[in-house]
Amino acid sequence: MAATAAGVRAIGPSAIRGGLYTFRGNPFRQGPAARHYEPDAIVAMADGRICDCGPAAEVAPRLPAGTEIRSYANALITPGFVDAHVHYPQLPVIGAGGEALLEWLADFTYPAEQAYGDLDYAREVATRYVAENLRHGITTAAVFGTVHPQSVDALFEVAQRHDLRMIAGKVLMDRNAPAALRDDAQRGYDESRTLIDRWHGRGRLGYAVTPRFAATSTPAQLELAATLWRETPGAWLQSHVAENRAEVDWIRTLYPAHASYLDVYAHFGLLGRRAIYAHGIHLDDGEFAALAQSETALVHCPTSNSFLGSGLFPLQRAIDARRPVRVALGTDLGAGTSFSMLRTMQAASEVAQLCGHPLSPAGAWWLATRGGAQALDLDASIGSIEPGKDADLVVLDLRSTPLIDFRMRYVDDIDEALAVQMALGDDRAIRATWVAGRLAWDRDAAARP
Ligand code: GUN
Ligand code: ZN
Repeated sequence: MAATAAGVRAIGPSAIRGGLYTFRGNPFRQGPAARHYEPDAIVAMADGRICDCGPAAEVAPRLPAGTEIRSYANALITPGFVDAHVHYPQLPVIGAGGEALLEWLADFTYPAEQAYGDLDYAREVATRYVAENLRHGITTAAVFGTVHPQSVDALFEVAQRHDLRMIAGKVLMDRNAPAALRDDAQRGYDESRTLIDRWHGRGRLGYAVTPRFAATSTPAQLELAATLWRETPGAWLQSHVAENRAEVDWIRTLYPAHASYLDVYAHFGLLGRRAIYAHGIHLDDGEFAALAQSETALVHCPTSNSFLGSGLFPLQRAIDARRPVRVALGTDLGAGTSFSMLRTMQAASEVAQLCGHPLSPAGAWWLATRGGAQALDLDASIGSIEPGKDADLVVLDLRSTPLIDFRMRYVDDIDEALAVQMALGDDRAIRATWVAGRLAWDRDAAARP
């Protein structure tokens, strides 16, 4: 194997065989024609990318001599999942609470986040977080650290070891938080810049300027966040918006001159492509139009929204074809209650039902793959299975539990098969995760003594 200039080992050709499910378009726009199902496919990979894919009978004769083919029976190869909003430092408080957002932040989250000044601790949690991502088939995530730069160093170090595509940033927070978690506008800027210089664009890592939300940043900090974002080509900006009614009321008192919550971010220049806002439950049509017009993305985090009682995200309104907002799915751990994107898709489907607009299995799957990639402005590289895309893949075991095995006997088509996986599946369904053409998680090998 040759070593590339960057020191990352180039990988020779390899291939996997099984069912294939991916998207050629957007199922919310093009309907069933947007999805592509192949019952027996080969996906070939070289140098971290997909180099060939299609029906096994067509691809097999084209493979270079000596290509190793790994066959997966009763399995579906699908793009690696995209978790577009998550707080890895909150893993130690998942499930704690029974409170609404602002109380939960004060009572559980802020105390837990104070530990991340300790780099060794941050490394321990980051290692667990990345391992869980691989076990759950998540190959790209947009991640919040804490206010401590060490929290981001730890995460990027671990992600880099696996060659994972990871977006992350140090939280900016200079008011309305415990003193131990506050920076100030200049320090937040300087520490973020140092992290950008160290990590942004290194391998598959990207930096996200991360003001926590408008309530915990002064106007001076939001201004510097926008400056930093503008100064850093290819960087993301991530934050929260309109998650909870008390939060929305609080923003109104903190920023009385602004027409709406979203208008605060718009005023400071914090909307645009590669800006990612979690939640957006309590937005009006004007705010959705501003998001669409600026190509700003929203992240729907259904398990979190239920856990904190935040409300029902109006997906149908958000993606209205007249002014469609880019929407991704997020686990939002630790307010979210599941690492599993299958469980998150199911939760999104249930919220859609409660809103009176059912979400199709294809729609949910798209949000967790190609739609998520598009929301992050990464769809040129990830989110679908086609030659030239990064070889980030999930192999889903379609019979991962006795009940799923039983239920699958009654399945008529691929849509129903996906619905069953979403309703009954979890981490046990992730048979393998491939990252940049390498086998990064092999469930059955891990289970062997
Ligand atoms: N709003 C501001 N901070 C947070 C957070 O850590 N989690 C959630 N769910 N919402 C937030
Ligand atoms: Zn969040």
